[in-house]
Amino acid sequence: MTKFQNYINGEWVDGIAGNTFKNISPANKNDIIGEFPYSDQADVDKAVAVAKEAYKTWKLMPAPKRGDILRIAGDIFTARKKELAKIMTREMGKPTFETEGDVQEAIDTCYYAATETRRLFGHTVPSEMDNKMNLSFRTPIGVCGIITAWNFPIAVPSWKIIPALACGNTVILKPASESPHSGNIFAEILEEAGLPKGVFNVIHGAGRVAGEAMVNHNDVRLIGFTGSTEVGKHIAGICGATNKRCSLEMGGKNAMIVMPDANMDLVIDGALWGAFGTTGQRCTATSRAIVHADVYDQFIETLTERANKLRIGDGLKAETEVGPVIHAKSLANCERAVKVAKEEGARIVCGGEVAKGGDLDNGCFFQPTIVADVVPGKHTIFHEEIFGPILAVTKTNSFREAINMQNDCEYGLSSSIYTKDVNNAFTAIRDIEAGITYINAPTIGAEAHMPFGGVKGTGNGHREGGWTAFEIFTEWKTVYVDYSDSLQRAQIDNYDD
Ligand code: UN1
Repeated sequence: MTKFQNYINGEWVDGIAGNTFKNISPANKNDIIGEFPYSDQADVDKAVAVAKEAYKTWKLMPAPKRGDILRIAGDIFTARKKELAKIMTREMGKPTFETEGDVQEAIDTCYYAATETRRLFGHTVPSEMDNKMNLSFRTPIGVCGIITAWNFPIAVPSWKIIPALACGNTVILKPASESPHSGNIFAEILEEAGLPKGVFNVIHGAGRVAGEAMVNHNDVRLIGFTGSTEVGKHIAGICGATNKRCSLEMGGKNAMIVMPDANMDLVIDGALWGAFGTTGQRCTATSRAIVHADVYDQFIETLTERANKLRIGDGLKAETEVGPVIHAKSLANCERAVKVAKEEGARIVCGGEVAKGGDLDNGCFFQPTIVADVVPGKHTIFHEEIFGPILAVTKTNSFREAINMQNDCEYGLSSSIYTKDVNNAFTAIRDIEAGITYINAPTIGAEAHMPFGGVKGTGNGHREGGWTAFEIFTEWKTVYVDYSDSLQRAQIDNYDD
């Protein structure tokens, strides 16, 4: 069996206690990808000490020079894109055309961050006094602990790692235990790009052991987390108690509103991609459709017809459109959610079962599923995040009711409305409670240079992606330069009424 290691101070090392865990393909339980260190406190302590030491010099490297390294990392991701996509698909399941997109998101993030190192704008403003200059600029924060999910095993870690490094921080990545090989790829690429030893480190293992140790560590100054709302809230509690900055990217139950004036061909293409792309395992997946009564039956009928034709299978096969869910527990959760929906009186119009037959029997495959006649407040599936290929469809009689239904949700990541009515579109932009709103597109499709994140139960006020990521990973230094050669008291101490 292939043995993988942690990456600390530029070296590949076993876990100190020697414990390991296995990583198994979700498409085939007989395909064991390898054995990874089950790290604990001692490994985390070692990585944090190294990252703290490396911070002393990395923060002093001119930002554009740090950017040069990140640009080269982007070049290496580009050269290795197809090869990396296969590694990622093998360990987390989505088809290779999607994992190639996942790598592209990291490439875009590297190139964007590289140029941002020449901006990292501060402010220079007038002083209240003569012969005095006021300026403010960004400084790095220190050692950043990054804890990420498996569904975008390269893209989402890159949203945190790359801006963190660009700003002059050092990083320890604890990748999801379902996609640890993808975590090691960052170490390989950043090392080849010329990153100094100790600036980036990878610790494998369980969130509740290695992750927990990192979150509690006094020398870790920031935690960046993508994962469940439950774990995120737990992390936030510890970060509050230990006075760390923490940026959280958590659950979603994203809705697409369909108005009767929408282009229905576009709606169906969008719903199919939004709900069943990545097997519904995106934080941004379209997991609710709120459809106007005038086009409701048409929506259900056409979408069902198309969803039934989607080819389910191993993401490594060229013809596959929908890969497996991540593991047996997730498969059981999809089954449970459908069972509850049935018991509560919703109508399963498409799928609803474990996908079986041939090679599918070795993996964790669930049929693309459409649950119709879902009513807010009555059906659990309207409110609960599933993280699987299940779309809940709700009928609405008006635009205002649709907006209220969309907002009847504990989360607020992404949202969408299909309409040709410009007034409704702009009203939706204003009234939808979500970090992201798409007009005439599904709830997925974030671009690397735009703010990404959500409101309510989804986040804690930060935005990854684009220029806003640099807010997360920097502190402000305020500077007053007095060149008057006299004691000039500030206006509050000197005001002439
Ligand atoms: C996520 O699911 O955590 O917009 C990120 C999108 C992707 C990113 C999803 N570009 O769906």
